[in-house]
Amino acid sequence: MVVARQVEAVQRALGPFFEVVMQPPVRGARPVIADFMAGNPQEPTLPGFVEALRRWSVPTSTDSFAYRPMHEPARQAAAASLTIELGVEFAAQDVFLTRGAGGAIALALSTVVDPGDEVVFLSPPWFFYEAMILASGATPIRVRLEPPAFDLDVEAIVAALGPRTRAVIVNTPHNPTGRIYPAAVLERLAEGLAGAAEKYGRPIWVISDEAYSRILFDGRSFPSPGLFHPYSMLAHTYSKSALAPGQRLGFLALVPGLPEADVVRRALLNFIFGTTPDAVMQYALPDIDGLLIDVAAIERRRDHMVSVLREQGYVVQVPEGTFYLLPRAPLADDRAFCAHLANEGVLVLPGHVVELPGYFRISLTATDEMVGQSLPVFARAIERASSGQATARR
Ligand SMILES: Cc1ncc(COP(=O)(O)O)c(C=O)c1O
Repeated sequence: MVVARQVEAVQRALGPFFEVVMQPPVRGARPVIADFMAGNPQEPTLPGFVEALRRWSVPTSTDSFAYRPMHEPARQAAAASLTIELGVEFAAQDVFLTRGAGGAIALALSTVVDPGDEVVFLSPPWFFYEAMILASGATPIRVRLEPPAFDLDVEAIVAALGPRTRAVIVNTPHNPTGRIYPAAVLERLAEGLAGAAEKYGRPIWVISDEAYSRILFDGRSFPSPGLFHPYSMLAHTYSKSALAPGQRLGFLALVPGLPEADVVRRALLNFIFGTTPDAVMQYALPDIDGLLIDVAAIERRRDHMVSVLREQGYVVQVPEGTFYLLPRAPLADDRAFCAHLANEGVLVLPGHVVELPGYFRISLTATDEMVGQSLPVFARAIERASSGQATARR
């Protein structure tokens, strides 16, 4: 065996992602008229982002691109903006720069998890949680979020906690459901975690995935789960707010008042070699932090698509944040339904890839033109499904 034994399990967990999302386009297929598959940019990069990269890619001294500690002005800028966002004071020393939220979650897991521990995650999840938990040597414990509301089920989470539980990964605003969990629910979660920690004699961490903290609709605010639970690490990213996710940049923040914070800070530093972003991205962080994609345009796109899809007969909730819609597929077999849409040049994410068969996800980062071109395709697809033609193709 040339690779680690655990690779097999990691690979199994990521199977649907690689089969569907990373699939090269089928040759000879109809040209793509609308790509709603992933949260990828479909419009030109924000000019401020390009300017920041240009500016900071010019070295100013011989050690600009040397091995160096994390760039302090970047940590300060991230701490200052988190302070404004969450309304409590974050210190620069508690911000650890990472390659996006993915890097932040990996850093958190490496720092707190031992082999044999359990880490709870919520399903439908972001593609990589299970694989990352397995790669950290822990056992993933899945707790379902139940449709149609996909509320955070605190009782179910608490029931999943045991003597080996080390952490719970919570994601809000939630991909793919678009839910923002209310403060009262997060408070109950924190109480449940504190109770279990006392019972089992060790703290349970919240790893709070806040990738979409700035993509909020209808004037909503975002309560961070970390503000209710003392043992919390917050994973943040600029992949969504600046929508240039290939340029990896984010951070992991320790919450103010964390017990034994010095021990945790020292521990985190041991793992940063693989997770810290490149120098140019670190230097550019203060500029990139001030950028935000046109959330109002995404909100308009959301409203337009929700209203037309509902008229067409789709069942779809209105997301409170993130840039995804999550309609029910009119066929139980989301694969077959999404394959039919793909045949017509409309790419969406089949729900089974995020452990939610019978649904499909639309990324609202597509252009208005794509939305316009796709709507007749969605209309024909649901008509066809209701008349049983597509079912017969399965
Ligand atoms: C919920 C969630 N967490 C984490 C990530 C990873 O973000 P990044 O590109 O910053 O690693 C994503 C990206 O799609 C996401 O949707």
